[in-house]
Amino acid sequence: MLKFDVITVFPEYLAPLRLSLLGRAIEDGVLGLDVHDLRDFAHDKHQTVDDAPYGGGPGMVMKPEPWGEALDQLLTPESVLIIPTPSGRPFTQAQAQEYSAMPHLVFACGRYEGIDSRVASHYSSKVRVDEVSLGDYVLAGGEVAVLTIVEAVARLVPGVLGNEVSVQDDSFAQGAMENLVEGPVFTRPPVWRELEVPEILTSGDHAKIAAWRHLQAMQKTAINRPDLADS
Ligand code: ADE
Repeated sequence: MLKFDVITVFPEYLAPLRLSLLGRAIEDGVLGLDVHDLRDFAHDKHQTVDDAPYGGGPGMVMKPEPWGEALDQLLTPESVLIIPTPSGRPFTQAQAQEYSAMPHLVFACGRYEGIDSRVASHYSSKVRVDEVSLGDYVLAGGEVAVLTIVEAVARLVPGVLGNEVSVQDDSFAQGAMENLVEGPVFTRPPVWRELEVPEILTSGDHAKIAAWRHLQAMQKTAINRPDLADS
C-alpha cells in the first residue's frame, strides 16, 4: 500500500484529499494518508516555525528544528521525502508514475521563503530527497502543490481508478502518448448547436479511430505545446 504523510502548518488545506476518488481509496485501504501539523513539533510558547533569513532580505525562513523532529518520526529508509518548491525539478507524468510504485511518500510543505536548506541536506544522506516544482510560477506554499502531486500519483495506483478507465491514453503517458497531449473528445448528442461529432468516431472502425486520435493528439500538441512537439 502507498502511504502519504504530509507535514504542513495548514492541515485543513489538505482536506480535499479525502473527497471523491482519493477519499474512497483511503477508506478502502488502497491508499494511506496522514496529515501532520508542523506546530506540534515546535515546543516554545508560541510554537514558532519561522525566523528571519541569515544574510538579510525580506520574508521569513522555516526553522530546521521542528522539521527535524517531525521527519525523524516519519521517515523510514524506504521513504522518499518530497519538498515542493519553485526551485525544484519540474514534476512530470513519468515522475508521477515512478512515485505511484513506491511504498511511502513524505511531503514537507514550505511556507514563507522556504525551509532552512540544511533540512534537505541532512536527510539526503538518509533517504531520497526530491525537490519538485509544479511550474514556473510561485505559489504561497507547498500545500497546493501537494494536492496536485498526490492526486496525479494516486490515480495511477492500481485499484484507485475504476478498471474501466485506462491511464495509457492520458496526455504524457509513457508509451504512445509520451510527449503528446490528448486530442478532442466527444459524447452524445451527435449534433449540438450545429456542431457535428467527427464522423469517423461513429464508424466503428477501431484501427481508423486510433489512427485519427493519434493525428489529433499530434495536431493539438503542435498548437498548444510546441515545446513538446519539437522534442
Ligand atoms: N511552492 C511555491 N511555488 C511552488 C511551485 N511552483 N511548485 C511547487 N511548490 C511550490
